[in-house]
Amino acid sequence: MKFRFVSRARAVVCAFFFAAFFAVVGLLPCAGAQGPPAQMTVYTRDIVAPVSPSLYGLMTEEINHSYDGGLYAEMVNNRTFRGNWMGTEGWGLVELGRGLASATLDKADGPSEALPTSLKLTVTGVSAGNEAGLSNPGFWGMAVRPATVYKGSFYARTDAAGPLTVRLVEDATGAVLASATVALQPGGWKRYAYSMSTGAKVKVSASNHLELLLQRPGTVKLQLVSLMPPTFHDRPNGNRADLMERMAAMHPHFLRLPGGNYLEGDTMADWYDFKKTIGPLVDRPGHQAPWTYWSTDGMGLLEFLEWCEDLKIEPVLAVYAGYALKHDYAKPGPALEPYVQAALDEVEYVTGAVTTKWGAERARDGHAAPFPLRYIEIGNEDWFDRSGSYDARFAQFALALRKRYPQYKLIATTPVKEDPGAEPDVLDDHYYRSPAEMFALVHRYDDASRTGPKIFVGEWATRSGSPTPNFGDALGDAAWMTGLERNADLIVMASYAPLLVNVNPGAMQWATDLIGFDALTTYGSPSYYAQCMFAAHVGDGRPRMEMSGAAERFFSSATVSSADHVLHLKLVNASQLPQPLALELNGLRGVDARELHVARSISLHGGTFLATNSMTAPEAIVPVESTVKFAGTKLEHTVPPLTIEVLDVPLE
Ligand code: AHR
Repeated sequence: MKFRFVSRARAVVCAFFFAAFFAVVGLLPCAGAQGPPAQMTVYTRDIVAPVSPSLYGLMTEEINHSYDGGLYAEMVNNRTFRGNWMGTEGWGLVELGRGLASATLDKADGPSEALPTSLKLTVTGVSAGNEAGLSNPGFWGMAVRPATVYKGSFYARTDAAGPLTVRLVEDATGAVLASATVALQPGGWKRYAYSMSTGAKVKVSASNHLELLLQRPGTVKLQLVSLMPPTFHDRPNGNRADLMERMAAMHPHFLRLPGGNYLEGDTMADWYDFKKTIGPLVDRPGHQAPWTYWSTDGMGLLEFLEWCEDLKIEPVLAVYAGYALKHDYAKPGPALEPYVQAALDEVEYVTGAVTTKWGAERARDGHAAPFPLRYIEIGNEDWFDRSGSYDARFAQFALALRKRYPQYKLIATTPVKEDPGAEPDVLDDHYYRSPAEMFALVHRYDDASRTGPKIFVGEWATRSGSPTPNFGDALGDAAWMTGLERNADLIVMASYAPLLVNVNPGAMQWATDLIGFDALTTYGSPSYYAQCMFAAHVGDGRPRMEMSGAAERFFSSATVSSADHVLHLKLVNASQLPQPLALELNGLRGVDARELHVARSISLHGGTFLATNSMTAPEAIVPVESTVKFAGTKLEHTVPPLTIEVLDVPLE
């Protein structure tokens, strides 16, 4: 990750208004108050607890157009004509000059059982300059870049042979930016592939659309119309590179997939049935996702796993546990059994050898090697289940999974009555709070029992900004992360949620999401940068630390990297006053009192709680690097107001 120096001059517009507002909500100290000097002693050789090696990770689900219209690189919106009940949402007619075309949804003819419908295009008027066909707007535009190859495909059925032209067109001018012509053949359903390249002078823009034009009068039925830009690691059916790079910079260790509410669906019919999300795209029907829109399942189970592989992280696999968001559930016993079997099959698809049924299926899908797995989560937020069935549902899944896969750790989504043999290894806790509430929660786990299940904070976020967190949220998040680090012997994993938001109007269902994007570009919120800083600078042990005299809204944690002998201090000053700190490093043997050390400081500052990043000001708040020099074992340091700071202090 690159850091840069930024101006802090944009701070005080409407200062009076903000001061009054924050005073009301309790975010400002009384006038005239001073930040008291704090004394911090770190016993660098006295490691009192381990830090989980997989503490920071990612949580994902189809929400806010995270995949379709987001990470999944598909550029065509509603490619399978399931966007709404009419099927044609987004698609339009091209009738240039005297060009004449019509299109209807054919509900009885499609290329596969999974995709039994098609869009029937009839062109009755076409000649040079009088073009006719279909247009697709993409997901709030189509990102086009110069000298780039775009690869596409579609299924078509036509009675008469003839050329079909596919082209990328600039909205404002009608300029053709790239095009390809496909020779259609009469007969049954057939898959056609095409590729087209932009010229070196094409400007970078998302204000473009796709057109499919028949060159002769005739009728063609179309299904699964796809167009892909280059993807991360050039994966076919892969992910947007810019979003993958953003995630990589977070130094994650795992990906919790596939949800969230997305795992459950609103009704039992909409459950996440992994078997419908694998194999050739034409055999994936897609499904109604709970966050209001249709999921094509182009991002299916294998794509989730390859996403993990590309980021070199492990999947945390959540299996459907027979409960739907609108409170319907499968009764424990025989009615639940098909879902238990599906979970066993799913784990086999992820981890099984190619000699197993589902391992062989994975190999047929193009990935012979099994994926690593350590944790399986059973359900999502089952405290919502008012029937009280989760204890028995969890037990039924746990017993079956443990019998077949004793090596995996099982995560329960709420505490359960522990049936013998079905005790959860880990509990998944979720927190969505305001900044003030998050500050108050920082010590939530300090005195928690260390004898029961471990904790996975599978979803958490400080929420007030929209669409992405503001600096007040980042302070809440950073304060919270000091608590995660202090308790990282108990908390094995933690992941912020939601991770992604398409910021276009109408794309978002849930406000305060870590990374914002549109068709062309992405930006990291202040909270995103706070996470990058925390996760990139965390050790493997927690040293004994004493702290006194700090202001109420000052938070800290310390971890030590045993391999490179560095103390990672996290300092979060959420108050309006500077926080002076007298740091004593105990245990630095043989250090001369005059010996000079250089610590590395990475700090993130916002002018107010409401200061933020956005699509138009993506780097208003970014980490800034500097060095801090000190002699011997004592370091005098002041953390500025509204600042999150990581100090890497060499211990040798
Ligand atoms: O992160 C958004 C939603 O919050 C998740 O889908 C759900 O698990 C939680 O309630």
